[in-house]
Amino acid sequence: MLSERMGKMVYGGDYNPEQWERAVWDEDMRLFKKANIDFVRVNIFSWALSQPDEVTYQFEWLDEVLDFLYEHGIKVGLGTSTAAHPAWMARKYPDILRTEFNGQKRKFGGRHNSCPNSPSYRQFSTRLVKKLVERYKHHPAIMLWNISNEFGGACYCKNCEKAFRVWLKERYGTLEALNQAWNTRFWGHTFYEWDEIVSPSLLSEHFAENRTMFQGISLDYARFNSDSMLACYLLEYHEIKREIPDAIVTTNIMGAYKPLDYFKWAKHMDVIGWDNYPSIDTPISYSAMMHDLMRGLKQGQPFLLMEQTPSQTNWQPYNSLKRPGVLRLWSYQAVAHGADSVLYFQMRRSIGACEKFHGAVIEHAGHEQTRVFKEVANLGEELVDLTDTLLQSTIRAKAAIVFDWENWWALEYSSGPNESLRYLDQIHKYYAALYKQNIQVDMIGVEASLDSYDIVIAPVLYMVKPGYAKRIETFVANGGTFLTTFLSGIVDENDRVTLGGYPGELRTLLGIWSEEIDSLSPEHTNQIVMKQRFGSLEGTYSCQLLFDLIHTEGAEVIAEYGEDFYKGRPAVTAHSFAKGEAWYVATDPEQSFVDELMREICLKRDVRPLVEPKKGIEVSKREKDGKEFLFILNHNAEEEFVNVGDHSFKNLFTNEVISKQLTLEGKGVALLERL
Ligand code: GLA
Ligand code: ZN
Repeated sequence: MLSERMGKMVYGGDYNPEQWERAVWDEDMRLFKKANIDFVRVNIFSWALSQPDEVTYQFEWLDEVLDFLYEHGIKVGLGTSTAAHPAWMARKYPDILRTEFNGQKRKFGGRHNSCPNSPSYRQFSTRLVKKLVERYKHHPAIMLWNISNEFGGACYCKNCEKAFRVWLKERYGTLEALNQAWNTRFWGHTFYEWDEIVSPSLLSEHFAENRTMFQGISLDYARFNSDSMLACYLLEYHEIKREIPDAIVTTNIMGAYKPLDYFKWAKHMDVIGWDNYPSIDTPISYSAMMHDLMRGLKQGQPFLLMEQTPSQTNWQPYNSLKRPGVLRLWSYQAVAHGADSVLYFQMRRSIGACEKFHGAVIEHAGHEQTRVFKEVANLGEELVDLTDTLLQSTIRAKAAIVFDWENWWALEYSSGPNESLRYLDQIHKYYAALYKQNIQVDMIGVEASLDSYDIVIAPVLYMVKPGYAKRIETFVANGGTFLTTFLSGIVDENDRVTLGGYPGELRTLLGIWSEEIDSLSPEHTNQIVMKQRFGSLEGTYSCQLLFDLIHTEGAEVIAEYGEDFYKGRPAVTAHSFAKGEAWYVATDPEQSFVDELMREICLKRDVRPLVEPKKGIEVSKREKDGKEFLFILNHNAEEEFVNVGDHSFKNLFTNEVISKQLTLEGKGVALLERL
């Protein structure tokens, strides 16, 4: 892991010395030292600079940068530069240019937009990496290899279409199997030759980005697109690993970025590194969830916070500054959830083009007398003082939320039953309920083992992949508590409905049959009426969007609908199943209902808050070698008193011993080691 090689929390970020004169570099070094910056990512977008034409490579500038950084004690994450192809390449090899969803062929411009199935792109990118590896494999400054940058988007060109057919042949073997999986007798789609298959886009199956007439086809194209980019990543990855087997190789990813199945990618990443750009009104619990999701990609391992802005971005509609203290607060939020680094985009604010208004450690003023620089420098000093205390420490959660990219794609590609349904919102609703309770959560994929959890929640588990229902049954049979919601158990991995009654393969476990699904626009609500008190849950709550009309088949009714022709029918059920319990929430409840339901379910399972919950106070725990570190984050602007329970702690920032109560300034952070 990178942090172990560095011996401390990694601190620094993206650095673009090639945009500046040599004299500026010296000033950069003085300022880096002042801020205790010890790691930079370089060569992220320098392909055009390093390769002026098809045969010439000029790395002298990069030699100079790497040697210079090394002399100044700065370690490097070396980019491979393949995220923005050179203009000459686009002109000479237009297959490198993407075709948009609407069929438009792109010209040169922007970045992150090479066609992943372009033979030219694959050849030139691999060749570039080979050159970089040959030249720098022994360079002592390099600690990490960063492939490309934020892979993303999609292409619909001829080459991609051809590659899609190859991918399909591999997945299905025969056209018969494919026709079946896609249910092509619907609307006369039977395919007799592989070449009849075209990519699903606005020119074919789609009538809008997310509206497709053939879910199975679009779903496979999403898989194929994610795999195509992964293949580009892997070409570079193997090029590096072949020569430097112990290199740490990764790419910076983007949280809940819909087009790429990061659980699949994570298997090929040596460490997870991700770019966190919340806006001023992103719920804090959402940022926490993203950190947990990124940690969940490689369970039990710390991740890298690869990018964040020290102050503002340029690309949001309103690029608010991080308020005083927030840079530190949000940096520690990442660390609290498992990050072993704090890295910024960018070191020095660029002079032109679209990122000139993007925050940086060194602002256009060019000196250290800025609020932002001072906050960066203070945090740098704290991270030095922390030495290796937290490195490689882990989080042990008793509750897990299941998150699956393919489920997300399939659900939101589906025509009906409700266009306002968003997978992420549903996931966040349940996450937020646990977050508010100071209960730690692992965000897990469908391949993760469920053995170590007491509670597993799978909101809108629309797609149930082969064998997964059985694994959940085993988890519950052994004493686990499982909760799922409306629109779960509906389809298989090809988006084909599991016949015999909803929720399909989950029916026995949940002890219910859902006969019909009502759907209403968000302004029309119904009510969840508690049958009797359940802990703090009593009375009536509002619910919306989707409403399963269910019959119980062994489950106990906890709440019923309050209105409409299904008034009195079950809205929430619980089913005892061997040693465990399986819950079904048949509609989309208001947040307060989910908050209270989750609190009661946790209480029932004795899954306890880390410390007594308080609004705006976030608590997280990392553990290592029998030591426990509690992060207390005050997201409120005012001073808060936090009840830390009966144990004594040492505040590692102030060296104070804390027992019972902690006083925390507005936007403040405490890091408490249990004594
Ligand atoms: C992304 C990119 C960076 C930079 C930042 C700006 O995360 O990886 O190169 O453009 O956005 O916020
Ligand atoms: Zn393409």
